[in-house]
Amino acid sequence: MIVSERDRSTQRIAQDIETLSGSAYTLSTDAIRRYAYTTAYRNTLDYFSRALDRLGFEVYEDPVGTLVARNVPRGEPAFGIGSHCDSNRNGGRYDGTLGVATALEVCRLNEERGLGLPLQLISFLEEEGSGFGQMLLGSRIMVQRVTETELKHSFRAIDDGRSFWEHAEEAGYEPARWRDSVHALDALSGWIEMHIEQARLLQDTGNRIGIVTAIAGYVHADVVVRGRADHAGATPMAFRLDPGLVLAECILELERLARAAGGGTVATVGEIEVHPGLINAVPGHIRFSLDVRGIDETLFRGVADDIAAFAGESSRRRGMTVEIEERQTLPPTPLDERIVGALTTAAEESGEPFMLMHSGAAHDTMCVAGRVPSAMVFVPCKDGISHSPDEDADPADAALAAEIILNAIAALH
Ligand code: GLV
Ligand code: MN
Ligand code: MN
Repeated sequence: MIVSERDRSTQRIAQDIETLSGSAYTLSTDAIRRYAYTTAYRNTLDYFSRALDRLGFEVYEDPVGTLVARNVPRGEPAFGIGSHCDSNRNGGRYDGTLGVATALEVCRLNEERGLGLPLQLISFLEEEGSGFGQMLLGSRIMVQRVTETELKHSFRAIDDGRSFWEHAEEAGYEPARWRDSVHALDALSGWIEMHIEQARLLQDTGNRIGIVTAIAGYVHADVVVRGRADHAGATPMAFRLDPGLVLAECILELERLARAAGGGTVATVGEIEVHPGLINAVPGHIRFSLDVRGIDETLFRGVADDIAAFAGESSRRRGMTVEIEERQTLPPTPLDERIVGALTTAAEESGEPFMLMHSGAAHDTMCVAGRVPSAMVFVPCKDGISHSPDEDADPADAALAAEIILNAIAALH
């Protein structure tokens, strides 16, 4: 039986994913859970490092732990490919990791075909924010979209509350040199990230490949409503200052605002912390998060402003106070027309169905694109499910993506 190049790629990518779903690579028995400075994450970086080392790449980690590998000396131009291999805490096998495995496959094909294209693979640290509650942390550090104060003091581990800085040092990194992280982008002529789509447009339209032309921006914020802790049985309804009521109103109003804004605007309250969190106590204060996103910045910023105003009104009306703090905001990111064009040509030549599309999810490419011409390639994930152990994707689509990406880079070279 003749095994085609694409079949070989499919098998190798499937094998990578299978291995990286094993118990050494996740902290949970029910989901993929790996984040910065844990053994599961270390093992994952080591897996990719060994594979790249075998291909003759120089592999290193930047001052905070983003993995970089090159097949030409540092400083020489190369084309960048990669994604992230940390996961959502309740993650699946594919979000991020499939992108790094596909980038590795691009490196393997480059070698096997004897193309000799100069390549640089990056696997970004903490894309998901699972360690420190900060999405795109490695790429934001790389493009200096953080401050030293945030790294030293504000960004704290979800697990133990200690600072990012302390954790990075303990893991053997040099956070004091975080500004040097940017040098990984110095000599990149372009960047392509492959990722699962995380929605179901590709599945519903029967396309195997999505070429991304823009990535939605977002506002992340924290809202704290302060009322008064009280006895849940003895306090009459008329005498309560219950922040849960403001929370309830805000969640419903947020849905209304996002629907009214339209244009693909979406909004979510994903974190709720009730204090003291006891069945027999009226909460004293509640913190909840806001995640508001879209491709149209005016629309999604409008929703973020309106919900902030609404939370203020609702709290005042009910005799309580509110504090709102923005965690981070990124504008929508248009992607590079030339790279999108090269990917489109390569996809056409493959003869497989593809489409141009937007990304609703955030990606490290949002940071890279500010410095390097960038694009993204999506493959379908079953029923659009992600950030869930039920995530499913076809390694054959990833193999097709690897081929298209390699051909596009060769054409751009
Ligand atoms: C990243 O995983 C996101 O939530 O967009
Ligand atoms: Mn991801
Ligand atoms: Mn994700």
